[in-house]
Amino acid sequence: MIDLSCTYLGLQLKSPVIAASSGFTDTVQKIVQLEKHGAGAVVLKSIFEEEITHEYDKTLRDEAENTGREEFLDYLDVRIRQENLTKYLKLIQDAKAAVSIPVIASINCQSSFEWTSFAREIEKAGADALELNVFILPSNLNISDGETEKLYFEIVKFVKEKVNIPIVLKISFYFSNLGQVIRDLSFSGIKGLVLFNRFYSPDFDIDSLEVSSANVLSYPGEISMPLRWIGMMSGRVGCDLSASTGVADGKSAIKLLLAGASTVQLASALYRHGIGYMEVVHQELRDWMEQHGFNRIDDFRGKLSQSRYENPSVFERVQFMKYFSDKEAI
Ligand SMILES: Cc1cc2nc3c(=O)[nH]c(=O)nc-3n(C[C@H](O)[C@H](O)[C@H](O)COP(=O)(O)O)c2cc1C
Repeated sequence: MIDLSCTYLGLQLKSPVIAASSGFTDTVQKIVQLEKHGAGAVVLKSIFEEEITHEYDKTLRDEAENTGREEFLDYLDVRIRQENLTKYLKLIQDAKAAVSIPVIASINCQSSFEWTSFAREIEKAGADALELNVFILPSNLNISDGETEKLYFEIVKFVKEKVNIPIVLKISFYFSNLGQVIRDLSFSGIKGLVLFNRFYSPDFDIDSLEVSSANVLSYPGEISMPLRWIGMMSGRVGCDLSASTGVADGKSAIKLLLAGASTVQLASALYRHGIGYMEVVHQELRDWMEQHGFNRIDDFRGKLSQSRYENPSVFERVQFMKYFSDKEAI
């Protein structure tokens, strides 16, 4: 009998395949459907730091100024902010009442300050854990690498002071010493690291000569980054690792579990195929486990991680030379 149950962040999950933070996790109806189709947990659509802090919405400010209604500005700003936050807390409460799978709240943040008190409200609303999508593109030429990294540790420290629920950090791979950062963050008091978040990249429209945005959805080949890094870091970190980016089907989920992921997160695959695709991924996972005689996730989780693989150097192979020297001339 195949048993997909596992633990993640100290929580008991029915399955390691979970719904990533996205437009598929922003209403109770969709969350109920995700549970129905087998998702082990859901990560709610993020609330943004700017929605929590007192930043003014430019459009509203311009509008109020143009119509000579500046006196309403503060009221308007506070009201909208309050409505967003209340809505988010209600989503947590309603989702918790409607499903039995863990509900992980999510905040999209770039700094370590004012918004952190909202984390406490999230905990009070009943969230099982809090995922922090730390969204910093290291493009500021006036800030050193060390300063950007420091921010991650500060964010963890601030939020840890506010909540007792497990904290998960979702990070990108833009670090100069990624392995060390993953290891150090994993021992900073968090319970999980999501490898990796995914920035939208710019693209160029060569007809209109404008900058547009490229590939909102990931393509399956993008699994290689989380696969390499989860494979290399699994067994060497102090927290769970969850895989995000490129989990396109059952096969990619299996690979990431073999690398040592505790959970794998789906976003683009749901946009491409719909919520029912959760079941397809689960079926592929079950079929594969049956074929290979694995009854439980822990029977194979981490089996191909660098620390357990007989030839660990394959993870470190970065040059094409060896690949081509092994093949006929191409
Ligand atoms: C339309 C869309 C909305 C997303 N919204 C969020 C979000 O609010 N917070 C977040 O942390 N990640 C968000 N993500 C990123 C996903 O959670 C995920 O990390 C990323 O898409 C890579 O996974 P994938 O290859 O399964 O798409 C979003 C992704 C998409 C495509």
